[in-house]
Amino acid sequence: MNVDGQPYRTIWLEEPGCVRIIDQTRLPHEFALLDLRIPDEMAAAIGNMKLRGAGLIGCAAAWGLYLSAWQHHRRPGFSSLWQADYAALLATRPTARNLQWALERVQLALDSSPGADPVEITRREAQAITDEDADFCRRMGQHGLRLLRDIAERKPGQPVQVLTHCNAGWLAFVDHGTALAPVYAAHDAGLPVHVWVDETRPRNQGAALTAWELGQHGVPHTLIPDNTGGHLMQHGLVDIVFVGADRVTATGDVANKIGTYLKALAAHDNGVPFYAILPSSTLDWSLTDGIQQIPIEQRNAAEVTHLQGWDETVNRPAIVRICPANTPAANYGFDVTPARLITGLITERGMAPATAEGLRALYPERHAVN
Ligand code: MRU
Repeated sequence: MNVDGQPYRTIWLEEPGCVRIIDQTRLPHEFALLDLRIPDEMAAAIGNMKLRGAGLIGCAAAWGLYLSAWQHHRRPGFSSLWQADYAALLATRPTARNLQWALERVQLALDSSPGADPVEITRREAQAITDEDADFCRRMGQHGLRLLRDIAERKPGQPVQVLTHCNAGWLAFVDHGTALAPVYAAHDAGLPVHVWVDETRPRNQGAALTAWELGQHGVPHTLIPDNTGGHLMQHGLVDIVFVGADRVTATGDVANKIGTYLKALAAHDNGVPFYAILPSSTLDWSLTDGIQQIPIEQRNAAEVTHLQGWDETVNRPAIVRICPANTPAANYGFDVTPARLITGLITERGMAPATAEGLRALYPERHAVN
């Protein structure tokens, strides 16, 4: 997608041994790139959310293993150094399935090529994961575009109203995004579309990231407090809800940013279609009950008690406390929306009902549960 008219991906190999990312903690106020050269730096970038979003976390983890191979492959004890880096990367964010998936994929590539150069193997696999992520997101955009076209036909001359939560745009992946991919596809095809952007407390990925990337691409949008969606739906101002996903069970339960479940309830109550859009790397075929089985990350309470923003009086970033000092706070990063509240899932292969049968029809090669 474009930044100031120039196309960007969110992660790339800048030169041998150096992975470059967009530092998302500085957005929307500053567009800054960050170079990562050692695996610990990559693990820290994932943990501190300098990059975030399920797809990008997976790609970053794969590049983290490339950096591990680059750093250590000539050293004695490469295998144990590699394993330590693998464990550190795996421990960064527990909810997004893509992290584990990508690490396992790079490990398999390495194990399948005994004697080959580990730097070259890991570079190739990380690049393949990165390119595949971008391609899958583009395809999800085309599948979701069909839904937006149908809505547009029913209300000629008026914009299709999409509500989204958090950031599942191109910043959360390598390019295009998931929830926002159909929006970009519609906008680029000349279909009038407008996005209601949930601010997404506590880290405000909607306000900071979704609003920024939609603005960069010229897509009309309006920022709303997180608790506005139900009201908009009651007044017919939302045609469809698109969200991303961090982990999806074989039965169609969806873990996504905290607050997604409440949007699904409101959508269900108001007859508004609610879709989760995700690549197959987000599917966890081993799980059948999202509420019981998906690990929910709990982050630092300071993310709730304090807000980060731009102090316009002194023109620099600022962090402010928004509650009495020492107020106890809880910071659950994600919640699970049960499959029964989801109209459908959109993956790179197309659309399916959020059921075991629906997913099995899209991925017949998987032995999904009954
Ligand atoms: O904590 P984050 O920002 O890494 O959370 C991920 C998300 O942005 C959302 O949950 C998103 O909707 C799914 S990831 C594409």
